[in-house]
Amino acid sequence: MTLCFGKYKLRPFRRGDEPSIAANINDKKIERYTLAIPYPYGLKCARQWVKFNSDLARKKKRTQQNFAIDLAGEVIGGIGLSSIRGHKAEIGYWLGVNYWGRGIVPAAVRALTRYALRELKLLRVYAKVFPVNKASARVLEKAGYKYEGRLVKEDLKHGKPQDALLFAKTR
Ligand SMILES: CC(C)(COP(=O)(O)OP(=O)(O)OC[C@H]1O[C@@H](n2cnc3c(N)ncnc32)[C@H](O)[C@@H]1OP(=O)(O)O)[C@@H](O)C(=O)NCCC(=O)NCCS
Repeated sequence: MTLCFGKYKLRPFRRGDEPSIAANINDKKIERYTLAIPYPYGLKCARQWVKFNSDLARKKKRTQQNFAIDLAGEVIGGIGLSSIRGHKAEIGYWLGVNYWGRGIVPAAVRALTRYALRELKLLRVYAKVFPVNKASARVLEKAGYKYEGRLVKEDLKHGKPQDALLFAKTR
């Protein structure tokens, strides 16, 4: 599945993506606001990620679907649906710091949410954001998500409990 918006595409990860994934994701500014992205993040992590996703693609029932944010063949970011269960799923994303502030992720979130609600026929797509992550909260607002409330001690980051702001878009 490929979704296009302007000069960017959302498409499956593939062999050969490893150098651009590692080059764009390996940043403390990305790790600090996410739960599943390590730092440092080298080629070995990128290889595991590409393999994980190609194994996933062969499964009939998928509880997650991940996409590269592609610019001219290079992976500049990632976006995905996880915890796909019944009528709902969680959305998550990251973008290489060199590309921040151009409205790329809001457009990617809009495209993937439309796909989730229309093609996957989900009724609800939600996102959880650390309260300090103002940029991500803004991304969701711009993509038409509604703020639903604060989940107290929802996640653990480096073993410490963190609140999360819950956003959702429904059909
Ligand atoms: C969050 C992230 C995906 C944003 O992507 P992006 O494509 O740069 O998003 P935008 O171009 O819309 O820019 C961010 C918006 O937040 C605003 N913003 C950024 N930092 C801000 C801050 N500290 N306070 C308030 N607003 C802020 C920007 O002004 C912009 O809004 P605007 O267009 O109304 O001016 C990117 O910063 C990122 O990858 N962060 C690290 C990983 C991450 O946080 N993932 C999400 C986990 S929930």
